[in-house]
Amino acid sequence: MRAYYRLHARIYDATRWLFLFGRTSILNQLPVRADRAQQLLEVGCGTGHNLRFLARQFPALQLTGLDVSKDMLEQASKAVSTFPQRVQLVEQAYGAAPTPVRPDFILFSYALTMFNPGWEQAVRRAWHDLPEGGRIAVVDFHYSPSRIFRWWMGKNHVRMDGHLLPLLQAQFRTELLEIAPAWLGLWQYFVYVGVKTGS
Ligand SMILES: C[S@@+](CC[C@H](N)C(=O)[O-])C[C@H]1O[C@@H](n2cnc3c(N)ncnc32)[C@H](O)[C@@H]1O
Repeated sequence: MRAYYRLHARIYDATRWLFLFGRTSILNQLPVRADRAQQLLEVGCGTGHNLRFLARQFPALQLTGLDVSKDMLEQASKAVSTFPQRVQLVEQAYGAAPTPVRPDFILFSYALTMFNPGWEQAVRRAWHDLPEGGRIAVVDFHYSPSRIFRWWMGKNHVRMDGHLLPLLQAQFRTELLEIAPAWLGLWQYFVYVGVKTGS
C-alpha cells in the first residue's frame, strides 16, 4: 500500500475526481452540530481532500486524519495547512496502535475496499472507537457487474463485490444509505451513515 501510494500521491487529486463519486454528498450530509466542538476521524485520509472540505464547512469541528502512507500525508499536510489548530495528521495503520482520539464521527472514504485483509476488523474497530450515538460514515465502491472491471480494480488493491454493506448494516443502525450507478452502470458506489446504538 505504501509503495502504491508513493507513486500515486502526486497525481492522486488530479485523477481521482473521475471515479471517486459521492464524497461531496456524504460530507454535506454528515449531521455535524454547529453548537459544540465535535471530533471527526478520517481513516485513510489520503491527500486530505475531505479534511480540507470539512474544515472549511464546519468551523467548530476538530479533525484527525490517519493514514499508513507517508507520501499521501505529505500531500494532506499541504491541503490542510491553513487549519493547524483544528486538523492533526497521524501516520498509522488503523488498529495497529491505540486510536489517537475519541471521535464522534469516523469517516472511511474510498478506504475500506482497500483494506484486504482487514476490512472487517476496521469496521469492528470503528464500532469500539465510537461512543454510543457516534456515527460511522462510509463512501466507497459497492459492486461491478463486469468481471473484467472487478479484476482490474483488484490489481489496484480494490475489492468491489458488495461485501461492505452487510457488515455495516449488521453492526450499526442505518441512518442513510444511497446506492448509485457510475459510468453508465460499470460500477455502483454507496454512501452510508450508521449510528452506534448500545453494546
Ligand atoms: C483511495 S485512498 C482514499 C483517500 C481519501 N480518503 C479520499 O477519499 O480521497 C485510500 C487511502 O487509505 C490508506 N490506507 C490503506 N490502508 C490503510 C490502513 N490500514 N490504515 C490507514 N490508512 C490506510 C491509503 O494509504 C490511502 O491513502
